[in-house]
Amino acid sequence: MSKTILITGGSTGIGAATAVSMAEGNKIFLHYNSSVDAARETARRVESNGGEAYLIQADLSSESGCESLFKETSAHTEHLDVLINNAGGLVERQYCRELQWKLLERVFALNTFSAMKVTSLAIPLLEKGTNPAIVNISSVAARHGAPSATAYGAAKGALDSFTRGLAKELAPKIRVNAVAPGVIDTPFHKKVSTPEMMENWRKGTPLQKNGRADDIAHAVLFLIENQFTTGETVDVNGGTQMR
Ligand SMILES: NC(=O)c1ccc[n+]([C@@H]2O[C@H](COP(=O)([O-])OP(=O)(O)OC[C@H]3O[C@@H](n4cnc5c(N)ncnc54)[C@H](OP(=O)(O)O)[C@@H]3O)[C@@H](O)[C@H]2O)c1
Repeated sequence: MSKTILITGGSTGIGAATAVSMAEGNKIFLHYNSSVDAARETARRVESNGGEAYLIQADLSSESGCESLFKETSAHTEHLDVLINNAGGLVERQYCRELQWKLLERVFALNTFSAMKVTSLAIPLLEKGTNPAIVNISSVAARHGAPSATAYGAAKGALDSFTRGLAKELAPKIRVNAVAPGVIDTPFHKKVSTPEMMENWRKGTPLQKNGRADDIAHAVLFLIENQFTTGETVDVNGGTQMR
């Protein structure tokens, strides 16, 4: 049966790969912020894989941006079956000694508050969906500890906690889970990591490789389809961090 899906941060990387892999027969609201050309290309790939794509632009690091995403989404659908809170990023590396309040606000707004606010706005639409599910994109940084990215790791840790609390609040109708990627080769790292860092992470990973966006899309799909999992954060990290 056709699903109606909202993916935040669908222009590039994990969001784009997830949109393309879920395209067939589905209607996808594909959110982006600044990468308009990449978002159009993702929409084209969704449509060539048999889906319908609706592009929506919004800066989700503000409450008004989250509201405008929903105003636009609600104008085109009365229900959602799936919400994927994927938009996020490290923003900037800063060691804790030099941590600026402004950076903390930006990192938490982008990675935590946006997912919480978007979810809050999406609940009435998800309640009208079929087997509705929410998947949040967390990070290995939440558990593994990431020097120079402690704010980011803490913001994703808060997202994991939100995932568990929300899973209880919304059960039994709506399932809520998260995926915690390890190092994935996407534009994320072009902004904040050097090739040397990427190579060191690759060497330090038991599977001896960094991940691909499709590896995460695959886990997101599992969490949407599996009807007996809720409140879980699934690690997909090549063995970097084992439980
Ligand atoms: N790559 C990794 O190693 C890794 C590891 C762990 C977790 N993650 C998480 O995975 C998710 C996807 O990241 P990615 O690796 O696919 O990186 P990416 O390619 O840089 O994608 C990030 C997405 O977030 C959107 N975004 C950034 N700032 C935004 C803002 N202010 N408002 C709205 N949207 C915004 C971007 O939109 P525009 O480009 O259109 O602005 C883009 O679509 C993120 O939550 C990230 O924290 C990534």
